[in-house]
Amino acid sequence: MVIFLVGFMGAGKTSIAQLVAREYGYIYIDTDEEIEKKYGQTISTLFQTKGEATFRQIEADILRSLILTPNTIIATGGGLPCYHSNMQWMNQVGITIYIKQEAAELEKRLVDTWQHRPLLNKIEKNGLLGYINDLLEVRKPYYEQAKFAILGTLVSAQTVINTAIL
Ligand code: S3P
Repeated sequence: MVIFLVGFMGAGKTSIAQLVAREYGYIYIDTDEEIEKKYGQTISTLFQTKGEATFRQIEADILRSLILTPNTIIATGGGLPCYHSNMQWMNQVGITIYIKQEAAELEKRLVDTWQHRPLLNKIEKNGLLGYINDLLEVRKPYYEQAKFAILGTLVSAQTVINTAIL
């Protein structure tokens, strides 16, 4: 199986993909890490130097260039599903799972790192929850195109694998 994890930043996609790799012998890929390897720059620097539109194109190109052998799990960047028909593409080539977290939970999970994240670092700390809420509303229609959804509170390597084989 080829499994794509989608969801908001801070939802836990990378950690859970790593767990699935460790516990089930899956090949682990993270689209942000692939971009950083290819360009030799951090996501923040790429965002700053090239701008968001170029970053979104880079993301879409990286996604389509991945080698998808059986038993691969891919953690995708939080914005990736929302651009360049990426959700549609992922649904054609693999099984998509939305890791769903409430805005308040996302805020808790992002509060320590928000200053290092390109979309969040311009937001005041006390505006973080409002920003997450608004962006989540915009992005939900894309995330909800995933074949399955798992509540973040219930997610484990086992729930991901059991869900994907449904
Ligand atoms: C982004 C999420 C990040 C990264 C970039 C943009 C977004 O990935 O791709 O900072 O638009 O939500 P994570 O979801 O892995 O943090």
